[in-house]
Amino acid sequence: MSESASVKHLRTSPDTLGIEWSDGTSSEFASLWLRDNLSEDRDAHSGQRLIDIADLPQDPKIQSAVTLNGAIRIEWEAESRAASFDIRWLRANSETRAGRPAERRPKFWLEGASLDAACDFAWARFSDAKTDRPLRARWLSRLLRDGIAFLSEVPAADAGILEAAALTGRVSETNYGMVFDVRSVAQPENLAYSDLGLGLHTDNPYREPVPGFQVLHVLIASPDGGESIFGDGLAIAEHLRTTSPEAFAVLTRTAVPFLYRSKDAELYAERPLIQLTCDGEVSAVHYNSRSIAPLHLAAREAHPFYSAYRRFAALLRDPRFHLKFRLRDGDLVVFDNQRTLHGRTAFSSAKFPRHLRGCYLTRDSVYSEAAMLRREFPTDLST
Ligand SMILES: [Fe+2]
Repeated sequence: MSESASVKHLRTSPDTLGIEWSDGTSSEFASLWLRDNLSEDRDAHSGQRLIDIADLPQDPKIQSAVTLNGAIRIEWEAESRAASFDIRWLRANSETRAGRPAERRPKFWLEGASLDAACDFAWARFSDAKTDRPLRARWLSRLLRDGIAFLSEVPAADAGILEAAALTGRVSETNYGMVFDVRSVAQPENLAYSDLGLGLHTDNPYREPVPGFQVLHVLIASPDGGESIFGDGLAIAEHLRTTSPEAFAVLTRTAVPFLYRSKDAELYAERPLIQLTCDGEVSAVHYNSRSIAPLHLAAREAHPFYSAYRRFAALLRDPRFHLKFRLRDGDLVVFDNQRTLHGRTAFSSAKFPRHLRGCYLTRDSVYSEAAMLRREFPTDLST
């Protein structure tokens, strides 16, 4: 459906405006929805709404509608004031239109093992991302669509990650500070700071909000072990919905408590392992077995939950769903921490020290940065 289509025919009733577009598609708008969206009821400068529902007539009736100079003019039965709606605006806000930009429509990549991280995802040199704004617009759009994207040649200086993060969004400070170092230490408070391999997980589901995006910058790669693993949580959750609908349903409605306790922080939140939108789409996956606290489950609920949890865990361990590869020194990965699960293979820090530096970005700031760049450089990801 093209945004430039013109009106072929109008159909009106007191309660609806129907538009048949020149491309053969049609849209229908409720009279109350139209009455709620008069441009003159918004502040001219900020665009913010000046009214709320209590200011609107209960049941506005359309008396007539005609096209006039690229707009549709509507007269209401009980009002002296007519309304004018720009046709392109109506087209863009039609409920039949897939209104979300491509970046809001994830492209699933279930079988990560069949993909090549170097070719199948967005990569940019740090220096190019910094200076080439159209390139950064496209890189960000692909990050949002795919849930993961990469930079290379990020300076090894301490602040390299923060410079790169600033190209993507706003850093969210936590009890770890602005950044955290992922390397082995004695008696780690978090098993991430050990030599252990880590299965696919999302970070910090015990926070409110959960970190939106995660950035990891490789300062020292390990030549042996320490490979990175990523999985598309939305795709894997959808696979669970298809193959085990009851297990999927259980995981969307069971609140799982997550807890982190250290000498300087105590963090607790409850959320389902699979989170849905109002429309029933999977909006987030929260999976971190290291931080699950004892569940508050009635005995009769335990078996269905653990059975569903086991099924999901088995899928997350399936190598078919693993995009596995070795990041090099200077590489930086950014991924959606509520979608893209990450893990690693074990390594030996005694033989080869491995050092990654990480930080979290607020979710809305990454979407905002992409949207701001898209205003200047419209991005068509189909090419
Ligand atoms: Fe992690």
